[in-house]
Amino acid sequence: MVRRKYVVGNWKMNGLSGALAEAEAIFAGARAHEAVDVALCPPFTLIGPMAALGGATGGQDCHPQPSGAFTGSVSAPMLADAGAALVIVGHSERREGFAERDADVKAKAGAALTAGLSVILCVGEPLGVRESGGAIDYVLAQVQGSLPGDFDPARLAVAYEPIWAIGTGRVPTIEDVAAMHGAIRAALSDRIGEGAAAVRLLYGGSVNGDNAADLLGARDVDGALVGGASLTAAKFLPIVEAAA
Ligand code: G3P
Repeated sequence: MVRRKYVVGNWKMNGLSGALAEAEAIFAGARAHEAVDVALCPPFTLIGPMAALGGATGGQDCHPQPSGAFTGSVSAPMLADAGAALVIVGHSERREGFAERDADVKAKAGAALTAGLSVILCVGEPLGVRESGGAIDYVLAQVQGSLPGDFDPARLAVAYEPIWAIGTGRVPTIEDVAAMHGAIRAALSDRIGEGAAAVRLLYGGSVNGDNAADLLGARDVDGALVGGASLTAAKFLPIVEAAA
């Protein structure tokens, strides 16, 4: 099966309304690369206006419940209502900073799919686990624990983001990326059978215009989840081009 390349920007807690000009330039530049799916995930405050620009826009988190007394939270139906087409769940900054467990991530992913959103489910090991040789077991346990019970494989992507590579300028070797993605694909195959071939596997962690071609060329890498280099068209579009 041919999987379309998928390049997604995670703006994290960055961006005031002035940054919409960058989003507009990114969406315009991305249109030149029809073979690549491009999306941006800004803070909640920019989802509506960014979606109105016409590009695929997503949230960075959602609450597992559709509504209720959860001060400060935003639900998946609210994201969809604001114009979002997708949502990131299980980012390590949520797992570490907000004590999200696999079961929480699973519930959020399920809620997002029910609301009609596509999901990017993040997994990734800390440095100590990588150094001790346990990275694949650690990540596969996250995958098993965080995947929703039933899902359309075309609407769920898994992003492998080694925590020690996020924002550090360090990236794993291409061989290590390919080995991890192959292991995730095999685990998906055990779980859902042939449908696993439709699940896109993204790599995230210090992706930039210089290393994108190598990372995106690795076996079983179907795209990238990009943080810092997604904030400007000048840095993000070369990554989109590398995927084309
Ligand atoms: O979700 C993307 C991310 O965590 C990677 O961030 O800045 O290393 O590209 P960065």
